[in-house]
Amino acid sequence: MIKDSQAQIIDKKSWNNYYLFKLESPRIATQAHPGQFIMIRISDHPYPLLRRPFSIHSKDEKSIDIFFQVSGLGTDILSQKIVHDTLDILGPLGKGFQVGANLKGKEVVAAGGGRGIAPLYFLAQELSSHGASVKVFYGGKSLKDIPLKEKFESEGFDLYCSTDDGSFGFKGFISDYLKAELEKFTPSRIFSCGPEEMMKKIAKFATEKDIPADFSLESIMGCGFGVCWGCVKRIRKNGEEEWVKICEEGPVFSSEEIIWAEYEK
Ligand SMILES: Cc1cc2nc3c(=O)[nH]c(=O)nc-3n(C[C@H](O)[C@H](O)[C@H](O)COP(=O)(O)OP(=O)(O)OC[C@H]3O[C@@H](n4cnc5c(N)ncnc54)[C@H](O)[C@@H]3O)c2cc1C
Ligand code: FES
Repeated sequence: MIKDSQAQIIDKKSWNNYYLFKLESPRIATQAHPGQFIMIRISDHPYPLLRRPFSIHSKDEKSIDIFFQVSGLGTDILSQKIVHDTLDILGPLGKGFQVGANLKGKEVVAAGGGRGIAPLYFLAQELSSHGASVKVFYGGKSLKDIPLKEKFESEGFDLYCSTDDGSFGFKGFISDYLKAELEKFTPSRIFSCGPEEMMKKIAKFATEKDIPADFSLESIMGCGFGVCWGCVKRIRKNGEEEWVKICEEGPVFSSEEIIWAEYEK
């Protein structure tokens, strides 16, 4: 884990409630893998006290991108930062998606809803670079909630979009769109991040169809590196259920490891 207290915002884009920041942080960029995250100190003031976790959306040699949705005070403060501001960040944290040469020539799916699309861009790039053929399923409430659509298209990914209100693409949830498409093809693996209900549905039909699937979970994170125990969830390991720190052992887990009942409201 690297602490970079001077990660400068070198580019900023925004769409309604969504923001894409490019942060100059060469040491973190060098070590980052898809599915890992950073913890950002939001304010120099005591409140909000806790750093906030954000997935690494993409990287180059010297910088990492984050993509986030304003969902409370911390993300609201963050959204007001401007180019040349610096952020105090920790990362890369957690264990990300397993991406390897074993997927060469295979068809795989990356399915994300809303802000959950954030880690899937880096993942899709990495999967492609390993020779996998990636179908990206990207859903949102409305057209304005799928602002990265053009970005995925311009990279040449096979993109399937859905909106709950039908303003763009398939009308309905992205999980329903994926389920319908799985009548036509069977991917070697599904990778997913997004609202729990979405991931739960995907886990269910992936299991029924015997398709291995990995999910990036969210949890309240106090520290992000295993000290506070704020992020624990019950996870199945070697057939036994245990309390596991999502920040250290995850956030990515396979569908067999996740106890989906934990996520029932
Ligand atoms: C591993 C991980 C990666 C994430 N990646 C992204 C991302 O790439 N883009 C994105 O938009 N969001 C991401 N999130 C969610 C993001 O961290 C929360 O939206 C953010 O912390 C909310 O902070 P807030 O102060 O704006 O909201 P608050 O007003 O504090 O709370 C709003 C919501 O955010 C949740 N939340 C608050 N603090 C935390 C915290 N420390 N950790 C986790 N959840 C919290 C609350 O439970 C509540 O549901 C990620 C979360 C995790 C755990
Ligand atoms: S966030 Fe502190 S232990 Fe996981």
